[in-house]
Amino acid sequence: MSNIDRDIDRRRRAVCMQLLGGLAGIALGGSARARPSVDEAAKVFRLDGAGVTYAFGVNKDGQLQSLYWGSALAPEDRFPTPVPVWENSSNETSTVVTPHEFPGFGGGVTMEPSLKVTFPDGVRDLVLKHVDHRVEGDRIVIRLKDVSRAVHVTLTYAMDAATGILARSAVVENRTGNWIQVDQLAAASLNLPYGDDYRLSYLTGRWAGEFALQTHDIVPGSIVIESRKGVTSHQANPWIAISRGNTEEESGPVWFGALGWSGSWRIHVDMESLGNIRATAGYNPFDFAYRLKPGESLASPVFHAGYSEEGFGGASRLFHRYQREKILPGAPAPKVRPVLYNSWEATLFSVDEAGQTALAEKAASIGVERFVMDDGWFGARNDDKAGLGDWVVNRKKFPNGLAPLIRRVRELGMEFGLWVEPEMVNPDSDLYRAHPDWVIHFQGRPRSEARNQLVLNLARKDVYEHLLAMLDRLLKDHDIAFLKWDHNRAWSEPGWPQVAPAEQQRLYVAYVQNLYKLLAELRRRHPNVEIESCASGGGRVDLGIMALTDQVWTSDNTDPLDRLLIQDGFTRAYTPQIMMAWVTEAPNFVNKRVTSLEYRFLSAMQGGLGIGANLNHWKEADFATAKRLVAEYKATRKTVLQGNLYRLVSPQHRSGRSATLSVAQDGSQAVLFAFLHASGMRDPLPRIQLRGLDPKRTYALRAIAGTAAPRTPRQASGAYWMGHGVQVVLAGDFQAAAFVLDAAAGPALAIPG
Ligand code: DGJ
Repeated sequence: MSNIDRDIDRRRRAVCMQLLGGLAGIALGGSARARPSVDEAAKVFRLDGAGVTYAFGVNKDGQLQSLYWGSALAPEDRFPTPVPVWENSSNETSTVVTPHEFPGFGGGVTMEPSLKVTFPDGVRDLVLKHVDHRVEGDRIVIRLKDVSRAVHVTLTYAMDAATGILARSAVVENRTGNWIQVDQLAAASLNLPYGDDYRLSYLTGRWAGEFALQTHDIVPGSIVIESRKGVTSHQANPWIAISRGNTEEESGPVWFGALGWSGSWRIHVDMESLGNIRATAGYNPFDFAYRLKPGESLASPVFHAGYSEEGFGGASRLFHRYQREKILPGAPAPKVRPVLYNSWEATLFSVDEAGQTALAEKAASIGVERFVMDDGWFGARNDDKAGLGDWVVNRKKFPNGLAPLIRRVRELGMEFGLWVEPEMVNPDSDLYRAHPDWVIHFQGRPRSEARNQLVLNLARKDVYEHLLAMLDRLLKDHDIAFLKWDHNRAWSEPGWPQVAPAEQQRLYVAYVQNLYKLLAELRRRHPNVEIESCASGGGRVDLGIMALTDQVWTSDNTDPLDRLLIQDGFTRAYTPQIMMAWVTEAPNFVNKRVTSLEYRFLSAMQGGLGIGANLNHWKEADFATAKRLVAEYKATRKTVLQGNLYRLVSPQHRSGRSATLSVAQDGSQAVLFAFLHASGMRDPLPRIQLRGLDPKRTYALRAIAGTAAPRTPRQASGAYWMGHGVQVVLAGDFQAAAFVLDAAAGPALAIPG
């Protein structure tokens, strides 16, 4: 089990203890405790929680077989011992068509295996059978073993009581007297029964175009979503949702899940020959090999999987809650995000004491709470060609070190944050000149650079220790409240020449484990320092890094219109609590699009608000607008970041309109954002019907920006706002409006007809 898994385990247990200790039943949306149970006679295991049941059992061949995953069954419903599916023909034998929970590659299995190993004698056959099981609190632990060789597997199934989300993981242990090589290891395989109307949703992208939602039919064959890049990646994110033909945004079944792993990963979704739907998620087997000496073990990442009957919206609200309450640092109550200023788009590498101080003073005047100096403050870093790895303050830019700037930022009432990219090095750096062997590479082979940089091999103990000492010193020597932790390139030539050839591919796991260990150790030593996961934008967003970082940089694309789409995709999987969004320049550097400052603010106010514009270019009116909207944001951010999100009108499919509503967990406040790309043909705008309000409470509507149609009541019941809706006035190009609805005590005013 990795540190991160342990950490997640610890938190989950702590939350479970709290629930047992008396918090049970408070708005849990289901049973107060997840109930794992075992029917010993039938050898059937069941996990129940928050309206979800997951069941599996041991079939007559001793193999784990899936039984059910979906809406809660009655407690008295009993499953008989599972029976392997009948052979369909000699081409679809029973082994091939049975829905296995965790099949080894062996015994004729041709479906995607959960575990594949190679033995020293060339045998690659592994048939896993049930050995024993136990219930531990909210989890069921199953032990499996190969039919003849001492390869043991421990599977953990832990269901979260509040959301019914199941965390599945596996540990493979070599108890043979010789090495074995793990060629493939998944956290879980999940099965759904035959159906001809399943659809798969997932997120793909590129730099400046992350979190693009893809949805299409699941048909016979396989869909592979993966990263081979050593990092989570922009190209695909380890999240999937499986829906049915009748599923919509707010209704119908959705099975969803995400892998907590920040290295190369793969999710394989299959429709098998008899129509069984199967998803297998784990380490990417591409170029993977992990040799285990006798006595060694390898843990998979954790796959977090949930079910909702309330469509994609219900699924994401459950997942957001789970992330806030079980995964994030500070769970179950992570702090709201401070409004930050970041220097990158304003000054790029040209940072210096005078320039940053001037920006900080302007940022403070509009209510910014955290001033972050980005790239360029260290070594010979004047562009991206040199200096990376030399984490000493550049004395030409900061003759007196960082202390005067930090002091001024603190005097202005803000926290100070700093950009770092610890895992990387420019060949033109003192670090690389001293330690050319510290990078990931193959001996005697070219080292491909990207952005003029190479990747340090964090799997190495010396590299790990160097980075820990360097970052620890940086945080000890300066009053730093926040690190923006960047990672600007994917891996290439994934060699580790310092270890034996047979050990080198351990890199894929060992690197990420050491990254997690480094983050965890820094957090332990500096508990008040917050960290942002950034990888050229949103290239490292997943539930693994999320447990150790407080927020993520969603995308380098700060164009406010593009962001609506990116944010819509992002929130399908991840909570707005971590989704940073900046207000930057117009025209925006990505699309050269010109939008109003108010439009840019409203787009960014749907996540953790940041400002990245060059404040030296702002006029007095801009400062006034910004100051007003920052104040509005502070008054509503808890609802936006931690409330229930309803994607009322999605910007997907190049829709010209979009709207989101966030409703506070206690129903006392709601925040509505509405956007129009461009008016045309005098098209009327539909009224926006709200969701998730308490129908009996009275809510007062107030515009943060923009207007509602004349005769819109200032105050009405939740039932009115949901049934009748709000007619928002939007006309022109790149128009936006936002409203706050505060639950009021008194009765509703008379509604004008
Ligand atoms: C990539 C990040 O996504 C940007 O925000 C910025 O920090 C640059 N790196 C700095 O090099």
